[in-house]
Amino acid sequence: MARALRCSFCGRSQDQAGRLVAGPDRVAICQGCIELAREVALPSARPATGDLVLTGISELVTNDPRSGSRLGVIEDAALAIRHGQVVWVGAGGDLPVRYGELPEMNCQGKAVIPGFVDPHTHLVFGGDRSDEFALRLQGATYLEVQAAGGGITSTVAATRAESPTDLLASAIERAGQMLEQGTTTIEIKSGYGLDLATEVASLEVGRQVGEALPVDVVTTFLGAHVVPPEFSDDRSAYIALLETMMPVVAASATYCDVFCDEGAFSVPEARRVLETGKRYGLRPRLHANQLGNTGGVELAIELEAVSADHLEHIDEQQAQALADSKVVAVLCPTASWSIRARQAPGKLLWDLGATVALATDCNPGTSYVVSMQLVMAVACLDMGLTLDQALWSATRGGALALEEMNKGRLRPGDFGDVLVLESDSYRHLAYRPDRNLVKTVVKQGDIVVGSLAPESDLA
Ligand code: NIG
Ligand code: FE
Repeated sequence: MARALRCSFCGRSQDQAGRLVAGPDRVAICQGCIELAREVALPSARPATGDLVLTGISELVTNDPRSGSRLGVIEDAALAIRHGQVVWVGAGGDLPVRYGELPEMNCQGKAVIPGFVDPHTHLVFGGDRSDEFALRLQGATYLEVQAAGGGITSTVAATRAESPTDLLASAIERAGQMLEQGTTTIEIKSGYGLDLATEVASLEVGRQVGEALPVDVVTTFLGAHVVPPEFSDDRSAYIALLETMMPVVAASATYCDVFCDEGAFSVPEARRVLETGKRYGLRPRLHANQLGNTGGVELAIELEAVSADHLEHIDEQQAQALADSKVVAVLCPTASWSIRARQAPGKLLWDLGATVALATDCNPGTSYVVSMQLVMAVACLDMGLTLDQALWSATRGGALALEEMNKGRLRPGDFGDVLVLESDSYRHLAYRPDRNLVKTVVKQGDIVVGSLAPESDLA
């Protein structure tokens, strides 16, 4: 008796599978496996064109205040992207017929928001510092651990010991996790090399992350993170060395940052480094007032820095001065959370009218966090931001902190970087903090995480 035909992929018989398509030599495939293959192959098979129409959007967050509120929410919306750029935004019923020619993704009643822009990360590093986390849980402070030889210096040793290939592999892994959580633009700092070769290698790793993954990367030179051990007896020699590095690193970075704080660099030292950086075209930004009130904010305003980051130790007057300036306040709520230190006055900064951005500050010491969704949750729960403020700060605020005027917002001419959530409202963000609510990531009109819904016109 002839053997019954079975699906060559899942092994189910005709009785179990319902329908089998037979090929030569008793090779066969069942309907379930055909569907699975289509699902897997479709997104990657679709050529990257940067063209997409999103329909069936329950709530579209545009961050375009012309649509009413600051978040510019449009209900029952559609969005068209051509060649990677937003070309049309509005109510679904008003979608012009001409966009019918573009591939369509039916969002089936889900919310859509701009891609997250993370404007402050230390993504390139070797090793981890879980031992320090355990010490802090037993009561040690961040500065005590640093004084005992841990802290940034221990990551510098681990980073110098790794090959650029290994540094790249771990940075790509973390950036990939960020992308899955909806981050479409990442700032990446050096700062764990603190010698010319490792600083340049770190910046190059950062740049290569942006080539390996569909995320945009902006790089920042943070050679002035701490004084490395080999210069502990001669700080000014290290600062002089930083100045000689500047023309070299300027080829690989957009910004120059200094950790201006207790246990790091003083205001005069930071001024010298940032002014040298400026001469080589590196725009200044600062780690300011994270651990103490040591003058970083005033320096950021004086130098017209692009951003002043952290700001845990600022008073109302300093918050007002920031609000009166063009300096973006980049807040890192998961850093304070992780080192159990005070939070920056996020609500006060918002109330005073400062431009506020949120960042993961991803690093092995103070914030081993990749998710902007978690950052939003901590900003709401521990800093007192409203959900709308947190979402704006995690998208448009981040874009402004990186001088990316056409990101973090969805109006014609802006980047087609959008996230389809698994919920029908953006209000589930922060409210459900343990869940990755990002179902699909679209980077400049191409689906890079997730897939087209089965009922899409492309199926
Ligand atoms: O932003 N403050 C300086 N840099 C990091 C900490 C880096 C580390 O501890 O390795 C921060 O929190
Ligand atoms: Fe930082």
